[in-house]
Amino acid sequence: MTEMRVRQSQPLHGRFLVPGDKSISHRAVIFSALADGPTEIRGFLWAGDTEATVRCMRALGVAVERRATGLVVRGQGRLRAPAGPLDCARAGTTMRLLAGLLAGQPFTSILDGDPQLRRRPMRRVVEPLRLMGADIRDTDGHAPLTIIGGPLHGIDYTLPIASAQVKSALLLAGLFADGPTTVREPGPSRDHTERMLAAMNARITVAGSTITLSPSHSPLSPLPSPFHIPGDFSSAAFLLVAALLVPKSRITIEGVNVNPTRIGLLDVLRQMGAEITLSDERVVGGEPVADLTISSGALRGVEVKGETVVRMIDEFPIFAVAATQAEGKTEIRDAAELRVKESDRIATMVNELRKMGAHLEERPDGFVVEGPTPLTGAVVDSHGDHRVAMALAVAGLIASGETTVTGSEWIGDSFPGFEAVLAGSWPLHTARR
Ligand code: S3P
Repeated sequence: MTEMRVRQSQPLHGRFLVPGDKSISHRAVIFSALADGPTEIRGFLWAGDTEATVRCMRALGVAVERRATGLVVRGQGRLRAPAGPLDCARAGTTMRLLAGLLAGQPFTSILDGDPQLRRRPMRRVVEPLRLMGADIRDTDGHAPLTIIGGPLHGIDYTLPIASAQVKSALLLAGLFADGPTTVREPGPSRDHTERMLAAMNARITVAGSTITLSPSHSPLSPLPSPFHIPGDFSSAAFLLVAALLVPKSRITIEGVNVNPTRIGLLDVLRQMGAEITLSDERVVGGEPVADLTISSGALRGVEVKGETVVRMIDEFPIFAVAATQAEGKTEIRDAAELRVKESDRIATMVNELRKMGAHLEERPDGFVVEGPTPLTGAVVDSHGDHRVAMALAVAGLIASGETTVTGSEWIGDSFPGFEAVLAGSWPLHTARR
């Protein structure tokens, strides 16, 4: 177990880069493996979660070569039976997307992972895949999953909860089904899969919240190569909130993915009074990208519920920190999904921030924060959750005294280099080549 010590910060200034988008990195490797030909991927996130995907794809017979700028995936339009269980480590995206991919393959595979991943719910993906005809044995609704691949048929399925992982799993399975697969979403989950499949000439249509995919008779075309992965908004979020909260700060984060399905946090912070500007808006890897500039400033409390929750689902740990500094009450509702992330993010953030003196109250589907409260340095724990660790470290930047974040090693699951950014003298660039 490693721990990270953080002290109150000087004002933050300068220009920053964040690592490549995690969701897009997973998908770029998996989809490129299905293409007929090689794809060079630049800006790939080399981190715990995405490395698990690379390991699994290699075990499925796909050549993936690491390069200084990212990687090359040599897709051949087919996969090979793995020699042993596929280790998804702590990556929910790896396990759920691969469950869909493997359901229609002519071989048996086993998906497994760390104890943390074994605790996360898998029925949400297994049940609709079974409706497609898949033969999957789960372990009381959890991993390990044994997937006895075979013929699949298309289904018309309404997701009970918005989940890009489940949607993507069904679309991946749909590539190998005997007819069209339709997925209906209750809310706008991230649409990287739809964008990527369209760029690879898959037969996919999107009409509002309904996605239909028809199987192709030939392998997918490779993505335009080199394929560039933009910076991860979910990583940028920690720096954005740090600059917002540390007085007299002003920073710019370059090349960040601003896909509307991902930036609910921007909308909410603006509603709270934050000034955030987007500049040099462009398209990178089929995604909208911009440079984000933010200055420190006062915040007022806000209510977050409904569709906005889906568009900022990974940002609640850092949002909780921002809410402790807002004037008045901030209330989060409709967010029970937070309880089945890498940790129970409602309970962990409420309990850990209370140790620093913040006023938070847990609710079944969210939490309530009363602010603003000066924070005091304390010993706080990540609960094995990369985003909880980073959020608490940012809280440490505005707390009096010293904050120790135990279990900080898990930050490497999504943002290698984060500790170096905080440990060095600001500003520092993290490397994304
Ligand atoms: C992800 C989807 C979201 C998100 C996760 C990444 C993806 O999960 O929380 O970090 O890449 O599809 P759900 O599909 O469970 O909402």
